Amino acid sequence: MKKVVIFLGVMLFAKDFVFCTSCHNGRKEIKLSTLTKQEIVKKLHEFKSSEKGTMSYIAKGLSEKDIKKVAEKYGK
Ligand code: HEC
Repeated sequence: MKKVVIFLGVMLFAKDFVFCTSCHNGRKEIKLSTLTKQEIVKKLHEFKSSEKGTMSYIAKGLSEKDIKKVAEKYGK
């Protein structure tokens, strides 16, 4: 798990958040584009304060600025 987190961390800064779509690419049930910008911000804050799951690790790596950016990019 640690390696995955480090890998994701690197991708995060290198790829301007396109890595989010490797899991949220529209083919699966979790589509970011169905959420509003506010919903994305809220969910990411929830993930940040939780201790379990993939998104919790990912959200902890995002700053407030990052969260705003991804919400702008993927929210409807
Ligand atoms: C390794 C796969 C993976 C990556 C990469 C990933 N996510 Fe997720 N995401 C998930 C999973 C799995 C869930 C569902 C988890 C849950 O509900 O506990 C989820 C849920 C979410 C949700 C809540 C969706 C909903 O309808 O409740 C948001 C918002 C979200 N992710 C945003 C992001 C953003 C933004 C990024 C990029 C910074 C990202 N995710 C990258 C796997 C991933």
